[in-house]
Amino acid sequence: MKLFVAREIAADEPRVAASPDSVKKLASLGFDVVVEAGAGDGSRIPDAAFEAAGATIGAAGDAAAADVILKVRRPEASEIATYRRGAVVVAVMDPYGQDAALAAMAQAGLTSFSMELMPRITRAQVMDVLSSQANLAGYQAVIDAAAVYDRAFPMMMTAAGTVPAARVFVMGAGVAGLQAIATARRLGAVVSATDVRPAAKEQVESLGAKFIAVEDEEFRAAETAGGYAKQMSAEYQAKQADLTASHIAKQDIVITTALIPGRPAPRLVTRQMIETMKPGSVLVDLAVERGGNVEGAVPGSVADVGPARVVGYLNVAGRIAATASLLYAKNLSAFVETLVDKDAKALRINLEDELQKATALTHDGAVVHPQFKPTGQGEAA
Ligand code: NAI
Repeated sequence: MKLFVAREIAADEPRVAASPDSVKKLASLGFDVVVEAGAGDGSRIPDAAFEAAGATIGAAGDAAAADVILKVRRPEASEIATYRRGAVVVAVMDPYGQDAALAAMAQAGLTSFSMELMPRITRAQVMDVLSSQANLAGYQAVIDAAAVYDRAFPMMMTAAGTVPAARVFVMGAGVAGLQAIATARRLGAVVSATDVRPAAKEQVESLGAKFIAVEDEEFRAAETAGGYAKQMSAEYQAKQADLTASHIAKQDIVITTALIPGRPAPRLVTRQMIETMKPGSVLVDLAVERGGNVEGAVPGSVADVGPARVVGYLNVAGRIAATASLLYAKNLSAFVETLVDKDAKALRINLEDELQKATALTHDGAVVHPQFKPTGQGEAA
């Protein structure tokens, strides 16, 4: 079995889909691993490190012979054109609203798996790319906030005077938010947080932060069976806005991470709220790629909004690429292991398997995922 690790062609993607450890694991499963030259450059993994782990260093054209291709991003048309029919491609496919791209993968006869569709069950935790990358994005959001904030985070009592601790408010306490809370606490900030899911309250408090939320009937029922947030009613959102508006006015840093699966990110911070903040305050909007939680956030840059600066960096996990790649590589090699018949050392694609079924986008010339089948053929999403 031949496995190819591509060098990402998107200029803004420094991550790579393998690490020296994952190459060793893949080789032990029976794969001949070829890593495209320079694939690890953006993640501080030199070709020699892949080679030492048992990989061969190759060129883009080597994808043509591969049975399995590992990537970070969905392959572009120029890449697909080089893959052989029947090849398996595993990546973060970002399939929503990408019908043409999915059709192209189907027409090319690829069996494609989208890692972010992995079910959140115990067996698949090691393959959960949303968690591995969101956790690092939450950490990096605090580091980015600290870099833009021209003051110190911790309280410092010095002979020259006392520096007050920064006040950090984290909105959305899922994987990214909880790591942001923990990181801001480690830097010495006074941290508070909000979420619409009741389960978040205890998690926030266990990290030593204050929980702030409208805890009404709707809040008590706001979590789906899958652990995600529901879209809240207009009335709830108005009450939430009233509560957070007065709180935000007293904060130095606001980090927003609020998402609802399959919907645009909820707008949590208005320009009016930002106007009440102190000069030099910083907001970091981790939801900017999904429409943004903060009014005035500009994807890919730092925007001046009233007295504050709003950080809207894209691909935040990619800003900590060397670590993000190691965890992503582990997520992928754990999934690829489930595709291999270990005795026969051969691929065993079985779309009835729970994990393959949940993540398979295209197979045998067609889009097979019920959520993404072309209109007319799809089941209700
Ligand atoms: P996410 O990325 O979809 O959303 C981030 C956070 O924003 C969530 O906590 C959500 O409740 C919150 N949010 C949505 N609307 C909001 C609003 N209007 N105001 C304030 N907050 C709002 O969620 P993520 O990080 O993927 O985690 C969702 C849940 O899944 C968490 O409970 C997490 O612990 C759980 N989880 C379970 C795993 C498992 O394997 N069982 C693995 C990873 C996460």
